[in-house]
Formats: sequence, C-alpha cells, structure tokens
Amino acid sequence: MSKGLFISLEGIDGSGKTTLIQHLNRVLEGYPLVNIREPGGTAISEKIREILLNVDNHQITPRTEAFLYAAARSQVVEQLIRPSLEQGKIVLADRYLDSTIAYQGYGRGVDLEFLHTLNYLCTAGTLPDATILLDLEPALGEARRHGKADRLEKEGREFQARVRQGYLQLARQEAERFHVIDASRAFDDVAHDAVEYLQKILVSRGWKPDAG
Ligand code: TYD
Repeated sequence: MSKGLFISLEGIDGSGKTTLIQHLNRVLEGYPLVNIREPGGTAISEKIREILLNVDNHQITPRTEAFLYAAARSQVVEQLIRPSLEQGKIVLADRYLDSTIAYQGYGRGVDLEFLHTLNYLCTAGTLPDATILLDLEPALGEARRHGKADRLEKEGREFQARVRQGYLQLARQEAERFHVIDASRAFDDVAHDAVEYLQKILVSRGWKPDAG
C-alpha cells in the first residue's frame, strides 16, 4: 500500500491544465510534491514523447500510438510515480491513463478492452486516488491554444469532441474518482473549485502542510 497521494489532471487540448497545475503548485507549497507530465516525465519517456508529438510521424498507426504512450507511462510509473508514492509524496500528473482511453479509444477508435488491458499492464495497478477533469468545448480549447499545433492537436475539432465525450463517459463510470470542473469559466473560478476539491481530499487523508 502506498503512503502518498496520486492526483491526475485530464482534459482536451487547450483546457487549461498547465495553468491550473502551476497554480496548484503554489497552493501546495510546503507539501512533498512531485510533478509529472505525460507523455514524458523521465528521460526515456521524453524521447518517446518526441516521436509521438512530431508532426512528421503521420504513419504511426492508432495501436502503435497506444503502445508508445503505454511505454512512456510504464517508464514514468516505475522510475518516478511508484517510488514517490512509497516515499509518501504527493504526485501531480498532467495526464495519465484516462488520456489513453479518451484519445486513442474515443478519439481514434482503438478497442476499449484492448486499451484497458494495456493500461493495466503499463501502470501495474498504480491508479490515481483522484482525477480532476477540466471539461471544455473543443472550439474554446482551440481558441485558447497558442504556439504550433502538435500531431494530436492537428486532428481538429471533431476529434477533440470525441475525446471530450470519452472523458465525460469515464467520469460517469468512475464518479467517485473523478471531479469534473466546467473549464469554460474564468480561471479564478476554475482554480477555486480545484483547490477546494484538493483540500477536501488532503484533509480527508489526514494531510497537513509540511507533513511530508
Ligand atoms: P501536450 O503538449 O503535453 O498537451 P497538453 O498540454 O494538452 O497535455 O501533448 C500531449 C498530447 O498527447 C495531447 O494531445 C494528448 C495526447 N495523449 C494521448 O493521445 N494519449 C495519452 O495516453 C496521453 C498521455 C496523451
């Protein structure tokens, strides 16, 4: 049994996860915190990330894509997430296994049973204690994005709409793990909602600031 706390953040591209994570880092100052982003988080996973997000790699098939995300996840779980949880730390993950179900499953149409098995194998049963889903309309997500679109972002609005529906379906199936936040509101409201939820979890698990 791990002693730490594992929180993941999910949402379509442009849903504001990165800004929220920066805010949560300020709020959680004093706690033993470890941040990871997926795909990535370790040197090996970052190399796999380069393959996955490179716009030149349009030949990757949906199943290969799923395997690559799983490989990157396997590495970060073994190298960083599991040891951190065993040391009693709080792990904040910018995306985790739900991204695979939403993107490769609902977005690309890869068989969901296959993906659940893959997720089980690559996480070795290391699941988030809680997941914050920033729910947003794809058109708003698109408007908020800046910089050059990566391979997944280039898929467009219809793809993002399927991903969003996938997330909402997961949130309905696992209502006790998910906390869905309407991310179309002003950032202060979104942040307030997320912090309130996080503090509730921390208190319920007996965490205090500097308790690490
Ligand atoms: P990133 O630039 O990190 O996007 P964001 O800031 O929105 O998280 O790119 C990650 C991309 O990879 C994003 O488009 C979602 C996609 N992805 C999957 O398709 N499957 C997965 O399992 C994961 C973890 C990410």
